[in-house]
Amino acid sequence: MKRPLEMAHDFLAEVVTQDDIVVDATMGNGHDTLFLAKLAKQVYAFDIQEQALEKTQERLHQAGLTNAQLILQGHETLDQFVTEAKAGIFNLGYLPLADKSVITQPQTTIEALEKLCHLLVKGGRIAIMIYYGHEGGDLERDAVLDFVSQLNQQEYTAAIYRTLNQVNNPPFLVMIEKLERYRHG
Ligand SMILES: C[S@@+](CC[C@H](N)C(=O)[O-])C[C@H]1O[C@@H](n2cnc3c(N)ncnc32)[C@H](O)[C@@H]1O
Repeated sequence: MKRPLEMAHDFLAEVVTQDDIVVDATMGNGHDTLFLAKLAKQVYAFDIQEQALEKTQERLHQAGLTNAQLILQGHETLDQFVTEAKAGIFNLGYLPLADKSVITQPQTTIEALEKLCHLLVKGGRIAIMIYYGHEGGDLERDAVLDFVSQLNQQEYTAAIYRTLNQVNNPPFLVMIEKLERYRHG
């Protein structure tokens, strides 16, 4: 069975082409930025930690990729840089091996999600990896589930992929797709 992060990548890879603009909302160590840069025309990647930009820049450089713009700003400002996107990924929580007090926050995560949903092209997709074992993680998990559950079903489909029998708060995946056609009724 696929792990949630593999599922997240496959979910995005199914729709992203070399003509597309995509967003990595939580750059971190750059794994997702690299993954997206191999698929898309242009990646806009966000993080609030300088360390994330350095790690990601190094990773892209090693792969010989130059099609990612690394932005040292919160993802809630993404509409200042991006006017449309085919896909986006969020990896919530803290940066492994860094300051565990710098975590994504419910309010800014939801603001970024709202903005990304709005500028997503039809047929576009968003993958949200939810880590909630840390302090405050449960509040962010619930805020994201609330937001996604209230998306208009005529415009979006939202789904969840999670294991049912693992201990220790395993991360899970929330997927959003903007429908090609507005569904009436
Ligand atoms: C779980 S890590 C991301 C892991 C990353 N995707 C990777 O491949 O390594 C979460 C990241 O979100 C960042 N972050 C926290 N608040 C943010 C915000 N408002 N906007 C963008 N990034 C933020 C943290 O600094 C941290 O690097």
